Amino acid sequence: MKILITGAAGFIGYHLCRRLLDEGHQITGIDSLNDYYDVRLKLARLAELGIDAPTDDTPQLRSSRTAPMRFAQMHIEDVAVLEGLFAAERFDRVIHLAAQAGVRYSLENPIAYASSNVLGFVNLLECCRKQGVGHVLYASSSSVYGGNTKVPFAESDPVNHPVSLYAATKRSDELIAEVYARLYALPLTGLRFFTVYGPWGRPDMAPMLFTRSILAGKPIRVFNHGDMRRDFTYIDDIVEGVVRLLDQVPSGAIPTELFNIGHGSPMELMEFIHTLERALGRTAQLDLQPMQPGDVPCTWADTTHLQERIHFQPRVTLAEGIGRFAAWYLSDKNPLKN
Ligand SMILES: NC(=O)c1ccc[n+]([C@@H]2O[C@H](COP(=O)([O-])OP(=O)(O)OC[C@H]3O[C@@H](n4cnc5c(N)ncnc54)[C@H](O)[C@@H]3O)[C@@H](O)[C@H]2O)c1
Repeated sequence: MKILITGAAGFIGYHLCRRLLDEGHQITGIDSLNDYYDVRLKLARLAELGIDAPTDDTPQLRSSRTAPMRFAQMHIEDVAVLEGLFAAERFDRVIHLAAQAGVRYSLENPIAYASSNVLGFVNLLECCRKQGVGHVLYASSSSVYGGNTKVPFAESDPVNHPVSLYAATKRSDELIAEVYARLYALPLTGLRFFTVYGPWGRPDMAPMLFTRSILAGKPIRVFNHGDMRRDFTYIDDIVEGVVRLLDQVPSGAIPTELFNIGHGSPMELMEFIHTLERALGRTAQLDLQPMQPGDVPCTWADTTHLQERIHFQPRVTLAEGIGRFAAWYLSDKNPLKN
């Protein structure tokens, strides 16, 4: 199949490109390569896919040296460029991951979230609608559950009280998707990812932040005095879930569905830190902090819907996944090691 992956130089996008190439699909990747975090990591991921670093900022498609993949640096806000790409390529599937991610940064730079996650999303859906794309899968987030206290979080739970602008834009995407499904019968699947970690992960997230500080002998900032639980989900489990959903095209009068993709067993933050300490062979110094605005004390995925539909339950344990992450972090593959 011809598949477009937006955010292809990002953490999840990179892993998904690799997996879908292995399965024999033709991949087109796009990414703005913005500098929200160190661009060297994005370029290193692209290099792993056989894509050379762009030499200019024209949205030109360039071929991989090693795989049936092409890549263009572009912003999804640029609707004319996006329309040109869709008209020329005629994709069978679109997996939309490009977004301004991160809860805490949404307090600093709210406009980036409105621009990428709302305007960019509508641009993308317009292109998909006009070209009659067969199935669009898009990244939502566990953050849509906000401060819900009923756990585990199920897709049928009310999600009307986001606690960060990031969460509000992701919930907006779900509502916008429902409108496109309703009005235009565009098949849309929303993916509520839960705290994803693994090799090539994001430098703004706990595994990377903590690892860097622990190895440098610096204290790590532990919010809510460590009284937090996260449903950490290993990247390969996320990718497996997305790949299995690719051909689960929603049907009916309003062809849209939402799925939690999470491990389904939350881990105490302190237990996560101890697991990381064991993998690195070092002890962390803790800088205990109060709760951050926009944060939630617990995330926990109910994966019943996912299991019913694709017979899959994320399975990689934290010890296994953190072991693989630490091995990558300490390897020469990691451009941010030093
Ligand atoms: N990693 C997680 O734990 C997690 C959890 C829940 C949801 N998500 C969502 O999954 C998706 C992928 O997340 P990730 O962890 O790979 O993040 P990431 O930041 O590594 O990847 C996103 C990529 O999108 C690109 N991008 C951002 N704005 C763009 C724009 N306007 N035009 C084109 N490209 C743009 C960035 O350059 C980046 O490479 C995001 O939508 C994110 O919100 C991630």
